[in-house]
Amino acid sequence: MTADIDIDALTRSQAQQELGRLADLLGRADAAYHRDDDPIMSDADYDALKRRNAAIEARFPDLKRNDSPSDRVGATPAEAFEKVTHARRMMSLSNVFSPQEVRDFDESVRKYLGLGADAPLDYTAEPKIDGLSLSLRYEHGRLVQAATRGDGTVGEDVTRNARTIDDIPTRLDDAPEVLEVRGEVYMGHADFARLNDRQKAAGDKAFANPRNAAAGSLRQLDPRVTQARPLRFFAYGWGEISTQLADTQYQSLRALAGLGFVINDLTQLCNGPEALLAHYADIEAARATLGYDIDGVVYKVDDLALQARLGFRSTTPRWATAHKFPAELAWTRLEAIDIQVGRTGALSPVARLHPVTVGGVVVSNATLHNEDYIAGRDSSGAPIREGRDIREGDWVQVYRAGDVIPKIADVDLSRRPADAAPYAFPDTCPECGSTAIREEGDSVRRCTGGLICPAQAVEKLKHFVSRAAFDIEGLGAKQVEQFYRDGWISEPADIFTLEKNYGPGQPRQLKNREGWGEKSADNLISAIDARRAIPLSRLLFALGIRHVGEETARTLARHYGTWEAFIAAIDAAAAQEGPEWDELLAIDGIGKVLARSLVTSFSQPAERASIDRLVAHLDVQPEEAHAPADSPLAGKTVVFTGTLDRMTRAEAKDRAEALGAKVSGSVSAKTDLLVAGPGAGSKAKKATELGVEVIDEDGWLALLGQP
Ligand code: IVH
Repeated sequence: MTADIDIDALTRSQAQQELGRLADLLGRADAAYHRDDDPIMSDADYDALKRRNAAIEARFPDLKRNDSPSDRVGATPAEAFEKVTHARRMMSLSNVFSPQEVRDFDESVRKYLGLGADAPLDYTAEPKIDGLSLSLRYEHGRLVQAATRGDGTVGEDVTRNARTIDDIPTRLDDAPEVLEVRGEVYMGHADFARLNDRQKAAGDKAFANPRNAAAGSLRQLDPRVTQARPLRFFAYGWGEISTQLADTQYQSLRALAGLGFVINDLTQLCNGPEALLAHYADIEAARATLGYDIDGVVYKVDDLALQARLGFRSTTPRWATAHKFPAELAWTRLEAIDIQVGRTGALSPVARLHPVTVGGVVVSNATLHNEDYIAGRDSSGAPIREGRDIREGDWVQVYRAGDVIPKIADVDLSRRPADAAPYAFPDTCPECGSTAIREEGDSVRRCTGGLICPAQAVEKLKHFVSRAAFDIEGLGAKQVEQFYRDGWISEPADIFTLEKNYGPGQPRQLKNREGWGEKSADNLISAIDARRAIPLSRLLFALGIRHVGEETARTLARHYGTWEAFIAAIDAAAAQEGPEWDELLAIDGIGKVLARSLVTSFSQPAERASIDRLVAHLDVQPEEAHAPADSPLAGKTVVFTGTLDRMTRAEAKDRAEALGAKVSGSVSAKTDLLVAGPGAGSKAKKATELGVEVIDEDGWLALLGQP
């Protein structure tokens, strides 16, 4: 048999035959291992066959097969993870830090649901595991996909890696047909210490903390590496599910445990905020002895029907919050204060610190907020830190709460160097030299350079390509900086002429740049082309207009529907201070400051010209109606007035929006429907005058299909 023949002795035809045999055998081994989770050979045998295959190919390079195992994923590490769109978005959690904020959370839940302070309301309280979240999809009881959170909408396919984790079952008995289990991948303290010892012994880099080690281990392109890492998994929730597991959070977790998942045994049912706080204290006391990192306690409304009513804000559920442990503190020397210029021209002071470890992470930069904060006063002029100012050379106290940017809490005056001078906040932009002014009522000083300021231009571009904006694969902050520096891209529109100006046939070409090649250049151009069609809300967010965040961009996009309608309304508003402003301001969630910011941005000639150049390259897509197609409210403008008994105003608004309606604060000729509860006054009158349909609460509930 050719398999036994020494490679040096193989004839050409024997080699060809042997390569065929190896391709077949290794292909079957891959499928058994990765697809069926049922290996047909040991790792050592597999590796030996791979080596044999590679050695034969090295001797007869022209015999290498198109389907050569050497090129196959699953054996050799893949180049990158496949992207996975989550069937249900993976949300994050809002945070609270104090007992009062926990009580406020409970109050806001009750208020939304219209429950009195004394009505019973159960929550589950469970440790917040400090790892990384993972979504496991089971179909007919078989694990078919594991995906990281990513940006919440699109994550990375780490199925093969997840299969190597002991706590993750690959088969389930009696599970719903479709079940997505969500939970946290983490590494225990002892395993972390052993892994770092191994890393060091092998001359590899040690991990800073268990969380990094877990993330680094899960996101390995070669599943064999993941397999060698001691990862664990706690289940805490679910995504898509064909049949609900139970009626409550707590019982659903129990059901997950019944299916073979590990759930955290510190999970407890608590009646009201005081019980939550008591359990928080217990968990905090046990924290050091758990053997794994937690960074707080998660509270969730237990009743799933109530969870459904509470629903979600843009990225977080209303029915849950994370009560974080107090921030970690450390003292270090403030070496310098630097000024960074943001995309809206804000001059932000950054503390450059002598590196110090705060809660397992090395920190060398922290935010100093603004000039008042450095001077020791708040925005109203009242003293903070008892009026102590912060100077270069000072010893300062750094803190980190959760994963937010580290901050400076305090300063030690007894260690202040004798020659330390009060910090003089610049009144010109350090990047472009333009005057930096502070408008009345603004806590921030801003560069007035606009588009001539390179820092603003670059930051605007970085924002433009960021994840929630255009999100162009292969064009991140680093690339944008380089292209800007070299004059290839100076405004968003230039991204869309990159191929024309730096593509095939041009004197300077993308593929010839350092770090680029034919393939990566092609990929970037395709990624850019793929983004020419862009949803209106993303475009509005991407423009980086002050005060226009993701949520506002969505609100505007939903209200106006198309770019043309939006721009016409803003232009009309700019032309007159009259009724058009009323229309803008009538949009629920749009206030005066925001309206002014919008109108100003679009009426500045240079900025407007830049936006128009951009839009000329785009196919702006009307906001996707995420309402069911048969919704009676799709595209309708609804106004609520008077009191509703069975539902709070906030809930009514969310329900209306979920059904594709726009909710407005005032009645006009554009209103389609007025829902009037008892006590309705002038709005009901106006609606009748205008011939707008008016219904009462029963009519409203009937529309929702709620008896
Ligand atoms: S629930 C829709 N429960 O914390 C609710 N999250 O800050 C989604 N986490 O991305 C999260 N332990 O990775 C939940 N017991 C727990 C958790 C937990 C850790 C993580 C999770 C999430 C992040 C949110």
